[in-house]
Amino acid sequence: MFWCIDYLNVHTCGKDSYNIHLSFNYIKKMKAIILNNSGSVDNFNYVHVSKPSIKENEVLVKVTSVSVNPVDYKARENEGTLNWLFGEQRPVILGWDLSGIIQEVGKNVSDFKIDDAVFGMANFPGNGSAYAEYVAVPSSHLTLKPANISHQEAAAATLAVLTAWQALVTNGNIKKDNKVLIHGASGGVGHYAIQIAKHFGAYVIGTSSEKIKNLCCKMVPTNILITQK
Ligand SMILES: NC(=O)c1ccc[n+]([C@@H]2O[C@H](COP(=O)([O-])OP(=O)(O)OC[C@H]3O[C@@H](n4cnc5c(N)ncnc54)[C@H](OP(=O)(O)O)[C@@H]3O)[C@@H](O)[C@H]2O)c1
Repeated sequence: MFWCIDYLNVHTCGKDSYNIHLSFNYIKKMKAIILNNSGSVDNFNYVHVSKPSIKENEVLVKVTSVSVNPVDYKARENEGTLNWLFGEQRPVILGWDLSGIIQEVGKNVSDFKIDDAVFGMANFPGNGSAYAEYVAVPSSHLTLKPANISHQEAAAATLAVLTAWQALVTNGNIKKDNKVLIHGASGGVGHYAIQIAKHFGAYVIGTSSEKIKNLCCKMVPTNILITQK
């Protein structure tokens, strides 16, 4: 008989094995990437921290994927942005855009259940904490992940697409046959903006550098693409 020890369980293993699950304090720990001070990526530390507990309106998500937007690196390298998002709290856990599986459901949450696959933007702008194994998220910040979309794709379809949506639909009130100019059309926000504008029947003009014009010519085509070196 062999004893196997990992950080959650101690159990026997082998052909005729059985598991003994012990409720160590370890079970309340999780892995996370913390940031003590703004600066280079060397300031990130991969450590064990306490697993978050949820409020009545929150769910606990086991994080499968996160995406990194400009706000992530701006917060990481700039003390002013970090203060705007987290106040004086240090260390912090960055990360807002996520996709994962629900592990626990708060008392007042009726729209999700355990094991639902969900994605969304956690507590933005504020304490997101998605660079971690588990994150507590208000249920209103999440939605069900379509089965035909991977966790990676879902995590990448949150802040950038909402930014494009707010610009074109919420603020721009886009209509069929509008002419829309999208600068940085090949970028994270831009390539969503092209698709949203096309969806509403607009005529789309994009700008892009020569080197990545294929994205706007083939994968997400504009009506007219202006390229620069
Ligand atoms: N991603 C988000 O969720 C989000 C949310 C809110 C606000 N924003 C802001 O929206 C902007 C775009 O964000 P993003 O995520 O789309 O960034 P991104 O993926 O880096 O795309 C930016 C695009 O802008 C183009 N570009 C860069 N320098 C340029 C210049 N000097 N002249 C013309 N085009 C230039 C680049 O395209 P080419 O290489 O083809 O020129 C690049 O693909 C940023 O200012 C960001 O802070 C982003």
